[in-house]
Amino acid sequence: MPDLHGQDLLLSGRQIWLDGALRSAELEVRAGRVIRVGRPGEGAATDLPRLELKDLWVLPGMVDTQVHFREPGFPEKEDLESGSRAAVAGGMTAFLEMPNTKPLTITAEALADKVTRATARCWCDFGFFMGASPENVEQLPELERLPGCCGVKIFMGSSTGALLLPDDDGLRRALARGVSRVSVHAEDEPRLKALKATHPEADHPRWHPVLRDPECARLAVARLLAASEETGRPVHILHMNSAEEMDLLRALPAGVLGGRVTAELTPQHLLLAAPDCYEKLGSRVVMNPPIREERHRAALWQALQAGLIHVLGSDHAPHTRTQKGVPYPGAPSGMPGTETLLPLLLDQVLQGAISLERLVAVLAEGPARAFGMEGKGRIEPGARGDFTVLDPAAEWIVDDGGLQSRCGWSPFHGRRLRGRVSRTIIRGRVVYAEGALLGPPRGRALEFAHAR
Ligand code: DOR
Repeated sequence: MPDLHGQDLLLSGRQIWLDGALRSAELEVRAGRVIRVGRPGEGAATDLPRLELKDLWVLPGMVDTQVHFREPGFPEKEDLESGSRAAVAGGMTAFLEMPNTKPLTITAEALADKVTRATARCWCDFGFFMGASPENVEQLPELERLPGCCGVKIFMGSSTGALLLPDDDGLRRALARGVSRVSVHAEDEPRLKALKATHPEADHPRWHPVLRDPECARLAVARLLAASEETGRPVHILHMNSAEEMDLLRALPAGVLGGRVTAELTPQHLLLAAPDCYEKLGSRVVMNPPIREERHRAALWQALQAGLIHVLGSDHAPHTRTQKGVPYPGAPSGMPGTETLLPLLLDQVLQGAISLERLVAVLAEGPARAFGMEGKGRIEPGARGDFTVLDPAAEWIVDDGGLQSRCGWSPFHGRRLRGRVSRTIIRGRVVYAEGALLGPPRGRALEFAHAR
């Protein structure tokens, strides 16, 4: 087992997530790894530092699988330090970061540069995606195995930045060789272009789901599923957003969904809906793929509740207020979210919309399984000592002024939430407790199964 450079800890509580339920237990963590799960009081004689968490919920360390932390290239929006600070304040023990930085993460040098920048400067652990581009498509099988690389990312439709594989030939070449699960932004580029050309009058954010309509998403997902079947390559479909895509997931043969194909949603697609969100929040809630009407939102909820969805990711894509203030379609797409990903979901659990089991499935177990993260996803002997600790009795209001992300705003500003992140514990160390970061930052690259 890899050395975790972690700490010793004796953690006990009455609500620890073990084998699918909250139970009374005591966890012995040595050098950052759980070595014993026992009954409370069993380790009374040990000399370990103790943490008694009473009735707080102790869950497996959560991971945000989709963030844009903008370093290198766009420090006015975010950087690896500020983005990871936001992540741990949101209860995340690790993040997977996207390649549309400047330079793009499409070479071994660019990936190594990110790992160097992030090590001991990030507040949590990390992995970086290798972007697929026409220039590097043949080297992807070697590139994906580099230390700190969590897999390959494909943009089928253009979004923020220049990364793109718009046609089936490029898509198949990227999927054909290599073993990691490939994460895909699935919007059909030819249809995006055609819609843009036919609607020159689009001058308000309410046009966004028209210019990137459900057919853009359906077409791309259908093409991706065909290419995955043909090549046998596991794929992960990011930020799914439409009822039609959920129908495609339901139609997959038994065993494929959750195996070769995994699916991800964002909280913003579950909690915001057109046209209201565009009328109230304008360009702030413009993202790719777009927030759609209520019927899509309802279909996403049904899919989540039915267990068709494996991961929830924030698609944390911060832009400054000034950048977002440019009239449509001039403002960049994307909104921040790593800090509110878990709080928004926890609130839904406490309101009874989803079970705690589903929350753990999509924020801890699902990410660990989909991306092959060593030691993550479950609390058990041998696992990493990574825990997300929640206070289900707290209440708070999301406030732009209290956020860690450099962009300093959230589309959920003003929303009252039940439950709160109490502590974030990484490799046996409390990194965040009741609003305070406990430094110094010690983030390290995660280990991924595809590189072994
Ligand atoms: O809205 C988006 N913003 N979608 C993406 O695919 C990229 C992201 C960004 O980087 O800003």
